[in-house]
Amino acid sequence: MSFLAEPNDANFKGNVHGGKVMKWIDEIGYALSVQYSGKYCVTKFVDDIEFLKPINIGDLVKLDAEIIKVGNSSLRIKVLVSSTNLIEKSSKKNCECYIVFVAIDEKGNKTKIQE
Ligand SMILES: CC(C)(COP(=O)(O)OP(=O)(O)OC[C@H]1O[C@@H](n2cnc3c(N)ncnc32)[C@H](O)[C@@H]1OP(=O)(O)O)[C@@H](O)C(=O)NCCC(=O)NCCS
Repeated sequence: MSFLAEPNDANFKGNVHGGKVMKWIDEIGYALSVQYSGKYCVTKFVDDIEFLKPINIGDLVKLDAEIIKVGNSSLRIKVLVSSTNLIEKSSKKNCECYIVFVAIDEKGNKTKIQE
């Protein structure tokens, strides 16, 4: 996922709000888990989230996600968030975390990732 950090993403200090970054992490985790499993998935657990450097408004934000473990009903995903100042052409790593998604059926119960 790649997009510009917009003014309405800002916190009171003028950088991107931490809650926005968590929302983006959740969205890329959701997209990857649904694409992989072919099933609806929900967030179960977020682990080891670390905000390393602030994201500046106007920077190009990039999220990379990788499945690192496939369980019976769960997927463990590593997410890296980085940003690039397009004028200075300098990039930095802003955040990383692990997030677990669980595939659920129509009744909301966990279901197998691979039938
Ligand atoms: C997702 C849900 C259906 C799971 O039901 P459950 O019967 O409690 O599931 P379990 O405790 O057996 O865990 C399901 C899977 O998650 C894994 N898991 C549970 N807690 C975990 C944790 N803290 N860390 C890592 N994995 C975890 C389990 O190991 C299991 O994986 P596996 O089936 O691949 O072996 C239920 O917890 C739920 O509905 N949660 C709310 C989800 C939600 O509202 N999310 C936010 C909005 S999307």
